Amino acid sequence: MGRKLAGKIVIATHNSGKLREMRDLLAPYGIEAVSAGELGLAEPDETGADFAANALIKARAAAQAADLPAFADDSGLCVDALGGAPGLFSARWAGDSRDFNAAMARIEREVLATGAAAPWRAHFISALALVWPDGHIEQVEGRVDGDLTFPPRGTSGFGYDPCFRPDGHRRTFGEMAAEEKHGVPADGSLALSHRARAFQALAKACLAPSGA
Ligand code: IMP
Repeated sequence: MGRKLAGKIVIATHNSGKLREMRDLLAPYGIEAVSAGELGLAEPDETGADFAANALIKARAAAQAADLPAFADDSGLCVDALGGAPGLFSARWAGDSRDFNAAMARIEREVLATGAAAPWRAHFISALALVWPDGHIEQVEGRVDGDLTFPPRGTSGFGYDPCFRPDGHRRTFGEMAAEEKHGVPADGSLALSHRARAFQALAKACLAPSGA
């Protein structure tokens, strides 16, 4: 059982897609969330060797700068045929202009160049870190496996959603409503997205439903 979270926290992200998902996830727990972007906090360099290390770097920096508990996610898409790329570099493959159509086209090009036969297996990982100003840390990870599909389909979500079809589904994340992708089922069954799955683990350890 982890330390319980209550009151106001900082969400250590400048990514509006991720911020929206995290706010939705935290709302049922009565947590008031401000973002690092809204507070004008600097973005630390993500120099960690894996997703968990990068999440910790972001949460630590925000907790110290804002003197509030801070919540950070580091995530990405790992493609088997590309040895796990883009992985830690998922955001960077989209360049400064955050052009995910170009990033998805690059994945398609590079996968085809390997000669690997479809289905092209891939997974998203989300590492979550919660850091309190006194240095206490809670960390969890979530993962969703699926296939890549080209051309990308759908306009929902963000990033690589349109080219990823989670196992057990015909539609891509880009074709799913937000609630279907990252909702946390009330009956306690496993959520779909990597971030929602990581969140379920974190909620179990550190969050109590509002009014409980
Ligand atoms: P970071 O976690 O901010 O370093 O960025 C991770 C990158 O991975 C994002 O910019 C997206 O490109 C990609 N990514 C992470 N989670 C998702 C998701 O749920 N859907 C689509 N792309 C994602």
